Amino acid sequence: MKRITCFTRPMAGFFWLLGVLVAGPAGAIEIDGQTVPLNHVTAEACKDCHEEIYKQWRGSMHANSTAFNDPIHNAFYRRVVGDPTAEGVLKKGKLPVCLQCHVPNAAVDQTSKTDALPAYVEGVNCVACHALTSYEGIRTPDGKLRLGLLSYGRGDTLGGPMGFIEEEAEDAIAGLDETENPHLAPTKGAYMPLDGRPRLFRTSDACLGCHDQRNNFHGVPLCQTGNEYTMGESRVPCQTCHMSVTNGVADHSMGGGHSMAMLRRSMVLDVTVETRGDTVTASVFMENLQPHSMPTGAPFRNIFVKVTALDADGEPLWTNFETHPATEDPKAYMHLVLLDENGQPTLPPKAHSAGDDSRLKPYEQRTLTYDIPAAGVAAVRAELFYNLLWPSLQQAMAGKIPDELVTPQRFMFAEARL
Ligand code: HEC
Ligand code: HEC
Ligand code: HEC
Ligand code: HEC
Ligand code: HEC
Repeated sequence: MKRITCFTRPMAGFFWLLGVLVAGPAGAIEIDGQTVPLNHVTAEACKDCHEEIYKQWRGSMHANSTAFNDPIHNAFYRRVVGDPTAEGVLKKGKLPVCLQCHVPNAAVDQTSKTDALPAYVEGVNCVACHALTSYEGIRTPDGKLRLGLLSYGRGDTLGGPMGFIEEEAEDAIAGLDETENPHLAPTKGAYMPLDGRPRLFRTSDACLGCHDQRNNFHGVPLCQTGNEYTMGESRVPCQTCHMSVTNGVADHSMGGGHSMAMLRRSMVLDVTVETRGDTVTASVFMENLQPHSMPTGAPFRNIFVKVTALDADGEPLWTNFETHPATEDPKAYMHLVLLDENGQPTLPPKAHSAGDDSRLKPYEQRTLTYDIPAAGVAAVRAELFYNLLWPSLQQAMAGKIPDELVTPQRFMFAEARL
């Protein structure tokens, strides 16, 4: 316990005692000499010392997970739940479950007025993760789902992957001007005790409470990254890919479908060609390198492959579809279908069952073959496109949210010359 350290240091002990005696609500730390509940602490309190991590996090979807910063979430939240700035919004008599993952700091305070504090608007901010103490799983003992924060234990101090060794920290701090590490002693009025919680922070447990799965209000599973990961039987934790070391720290930009750099590294795409008589047979090989589906996450994520035969001047002679593969070449469109009561495709909130799931399974290899008239063909090109939204949603939201969110993004290509 870091508090012991404080008692060994007269000043530190004094400040700590002061904190407890003056206000000291459970779950609080000190900033500028004021006691602040942990879930009201903004990333600004960490920024000056953890500059690189702050920058990475700032650009991540975690920092943009609320209705105020994520236009897609905003659209769905308003439609399914209500006004994100209103107090007393309930869903099935409870605080909307969305907040347990998208606005965790408001969920702690049991409020639906998610613009009330800067620490709410920050969404999944530093303390949303670093206040967690344990992962209890997303099922209660009687089998009910408890999602997001509800699946975690939370404490009144910060936690990290390793913590500090007291004696060494004492030495290190002795050489400093006492302003360097507020996790060990009050420095410049800030005191943010921190201990090591390696079983949580070094493993997928740090992620699965929010990323395992989520059902809609009819009990239909929407996001299922956790189930997919179990199916993939990987022992590589999420952090290995999503928090690789960047500029000397564990990368907090945690890229996914919004990150071109991550998308480019998700799969193998290759094309081979064989000519027999007047036909070129093109084999488009895809391998999912991830321990979860490709695409994973929100049910409307989808990918498709476009195949083009080109002449010697690079002019297209043949393509596998004109407008969209959904009807013209269904095997080239990898997506999840959700069905309403009548078995018709529908939106996530209205789904009563899951239909076909043609996304690439964890580590799946898949080859699509095409017979193309050989006359004039000099090369065959395959291109993979990622879509945050289904085509119907892209159309419905076009003009209302930024263009790049409704436009297919080409993230990979491969070409074979004849
Ligand atoms: C006054 C400077 C300062 C501030 C402010 C600060 N930290 Fe730190 N923090 C440090 C130092 C120094 C270390 C140890 C060296 C390092 O890891 O960079 C550290 C380490 C950490 C670690 C790694 C611990 C481990 O287990 O390896 C975490 C996590 C952390 N800080 C979180 C936070 C959070 C969250 C905030 C904001 C609420 C914050 N820090 C604010 C100085 C600061
Ligand atoms: C407190 C809940 C919570 C925890 C814990 C959490 N996440 Fe997230 N994460 C979210 C939410 C909410 C979003 C979606 C934000 C949005 O798109 O509006 C998200 C988005 C993401 C994305 C998608 C980015 C994109 O481009 O769409 C990735 C990747 C991700 N998280 C990885 C992780 C990893 C890895 C961990 C564990 C180290 C983790 N998350 C822990 C809630 C959480
Ligand atoms: C989605 C959850 C999540 C959020 C949000 C988050 N962290 Fe972390 N952080 C982690 C995890 C998990 C690790 C451990 C990574 C590992 O060691 O594998 C970590 C590690 C760290 C470390 C140690 C890094 C190193 O390379 O030694 C520091 C310092 C830190 N976080 C500070 C912060 C600060 C500051 C913020 C906000 C700007 C923040 N974290 C936001 C989950 C989170
Ligand atoms: C081998 C590397 C690897 C591992 C391990 C891994 N991922 Fe991913 N993940 C990726 C790549 C690459 C992407 C981008 C392509 C995509 O969307 O699937 C991604 C995408 C995501 C997304 C984005 C979904 C969206 O809607 O934008 C989420 C969420 C996610 N991963 C969560 C996790 C979680 C949780 C774990 C651990 C249980 C994990 N990942 C383990 C490589 C990995
Ligand atoms: C168990 C945690 C959890 C709950 C509960 C949850 N979400 Fe999410 N949501 C996520 C995560 C994680 C992502 C991003 C990664 C992914 O695609 O899986 C996400 C992504 C989204 C996206 C896509 C955002 C984008 O940028 O494309 C929308 C929209 C969304 N959620 C709406 C909602 C709504 C509305 C609710 C409540 C009815 C809700 N979510 C409840 C975890 C959750």
